[in-house]
Amino acid sequence: MGILNQKTALITGGGRGIGRGIAFELAKEGADIVVADLNVENAQQTVDEVQTLGQKATSVKMDVTDEASVATGIETALSKHDRIDILVNNAGVVGNHTGAEVTLQDWDMCFNVNLKGIWIVTRALVDHFKANQNGKIINISSIAGRQGTPGMPAYSASKSGVISLTQSLAQELGPFNINVNAVCPGLLWTDIWRKLEVLYGGAKSEKEINQRNHFNQYIANRCPLGREQTPEDIGMAIAFLASDHARNITGQALNVDGGIKMN
Ligand SMILES: NC(=O)c1ccc[n+]([C@@H]2O[C@H](COP(=O)([O-])OP(=O)(O)OC[C@H]3O[C@@H](n4cnc5c(N)ncnc54)[C@H](O)[C@@H]3O)[C@@H](O)[C@H]2O)c1
Repeated sequence: MGILNQKTALITGGGRGIGRGIAFELAKEGADIVVADLNVENAQQTVDEVQTLGQKATSVKMDVTDEASVATGIETALSKHDRIDILVNNAGVVGNHTGAEVTLQDWDMCFNVNLKGIWIVTRALVDHFKANQNGKIINISSIAGRQGTPGMPAYSASKSGVISLTQSLAQELGPFNINVNAVCPGLLWTDIWRKLEVLYGGAKSEKEINQRNHFNQYIANRCPLGREQTPEDIGMAIAFLASDHARNITGQALNVDGGIKMN
């Protein structure tokens, strides 16, 4: 018996990285899965993996910044699954520059995907959750949302906004038995960090990127547990928050970061 038996979870940005790990962990706990991503081929790969666990899974193409695309994606999801019980707002981007070089395009991209995207997808599903008098929403913030981060003003501010939005929604939706929480991942070696290895670590080639110099240094200097996090670590925390074990937890932001941030 999994803690998410008979539940269906929709995960944005579930085509790779953390989102794929979340899909896998929720499916291991018995949830059926809808993987929503800009890249539908990647989303389908996640679906294929989830199906090996025996769970029903569907991929949908979705751009979280586009209301029409979100509406179509949810309609497709609900044509294949009776209901959606869990929404994981995971899609996120980091921008293409650091520090003073951060452009208005970077700024808009971070805010549109990381923050407005959560609002758009949540708003599209909230009547469904209200009608069911039940729902679990988990938003992916970051340790960069806990404190302003040098070089990442737009990303960091957008992720702080995710925590604030989580608290607003938790208060508004609590009376409908809808829990809203955030998870703040620490350091995971995904495509986002490969990009940061170029932007921060100065890596110029694939070989240099894969040396993970900046990533490893960050862990060695700032992480009490001394190890990177994995998509499965994030997925396990989300499985808990999505379950009835967490029925009295709402409006919280949980760091899953080996102790890098303690607030
Ligand atoms: N990797 C880390 O160390 C780290 C740390 C803290 C927080 N996070 C957050 O975790 C989440 C997942 O990051 P990741 O590391 O797996 O990154 P990733 O780049 O590997 O995956 C991001 C996914 O989001 C999808 N996506 C991007 N824009 C989208 C859009 N407009 N609509 C729908 N899907 C879209 C991408 O196609 C991709 O599948 C992000 O919100 C990120 O900010 C990551």
